[in-house]
Amino acid sequence: MYVCLCKGITDRQIQAAVHDGAHSLGKLRKSLGVASQCGKCASLTREILDETLQEI
Ligand code: FES
Repeated sequence: MYVCLCKGITDRQIQAAVHDGAHSLGKLRKSLGVASQCGKCASLTREILDETLQEI
């Protein structure tokens, strides 16, 4: 599903980036551009980040 509509980023892209080492919201923002415009997706992105970190 789309998490960030501004940048067209899905939950799967976020999970993949976390697996690749983006272990913070700042790193996800740098690598994907997620939460870099309106910021509405930041809290959901953080949830996905935390969930994914628990799996790895
Ligand atoms: Fe992600 Fe706007 S929805 S920056």
